[in-house]
Amino acid sequence: MNEPIIVLNFKTYTEGTGKNAVAIAQACKDVSDETGAHIAVAPQLPDIYRVASIVDIPVFSQHVDGVEPGSFTGHIMAEAVKEAGAIGTLINHSERRLKLADIDASVTAAGRTGLTTIVCTNNIATTIAASTLGPDYVAVEPPELIGSGIPVSKADPEVVSGSVKAVRNINPDVKVLCGAGISKGEDMKAALELGSVGVLLASGVVKSNDPKKALFDLVNGI
Ligand code: G3P
Repeated sequence: MNEPIIVLNFKTYTEGTGKNAVAIAQACKDVSDETGAHIAVAPQLPDIYRVASIVDIPVFSQHVDGVEPGSFTGHIMAEAVKEAGAIGTLINHSERRLKLADIDASVTAAGRTGLTTIVCTNNIATTIAASTLGPDYVAVEPPELIGSGIPVSKADPEVVSGSVKAVRNINPDVKVLCGAGISKGEDMKAALELGSVGVLLASGVVKSNDPKKALFDLVNGI
C-alpha cells in the first residue's frame, strides 16, 4: 500500500451495502484518480467480489478468521477472501473484537495468503500488544469516538502520538493508522502530523449525502 492512505470501512451501513457499495467504491476511485490520493475500501464480505470485480481499487475484508482450508463451516478463510479480490483485511475492529490468540491466528492466516493486515486497537496498551504480532498496520480507534463526528486526532491526540511512539520502539516495521470521528481534511492533516500514515474511517463518508464531496474535503488534508 502506498501512503498516506485512507481506508474507508463500509461497516454494515445500508448506504454501503450491495449496489451502494459499488457506488461508494466508484466515488473513491474517482477521487483517487483526480487527486492521486491512495484510497482503499472495506465492504461487507458478500460485497467483496462484486466491488473488486467492478471497481479498480484496493479492497479490504472487514474480518478474517484464523482458520486453514478444511473443516471450519461458517468461518471466513483468508484464501477465500483473497480469491474474491481483496488485497487485505481488517482484524479485531472494535465492532468485531477478538481475543489476543485469535488476533494472532487471523494475522497468521492473512499473512499466509499475502493479505495486508490492519489490526484495530482501542488504546495504547492494545496497540503495543497488537504490534508484537507483526501486522502491516495497527489502527488505533478509541471506541467512544467511533461514529461521534468528534475526530480522534483532535479529541485524543495523545492516543495517536503515543501509539506511534510505542510501536516504533517495539516493531518499527508496523505502521500506525488512526480512526474514529475523522471526516474533514483538517482531521486528516492532524492525523498525519501526529505520526500516523493514514486514517480508517466510515460514517463521515459512507453516511454523507455526497460521499464524493466528503472525500474531496478529506484528501485536502494530505
Ligand atoms: O472503522 C472505522 C470506524 O470505526 C470509525 O468510524 O464513523 O467514526 O469514522 P467513524
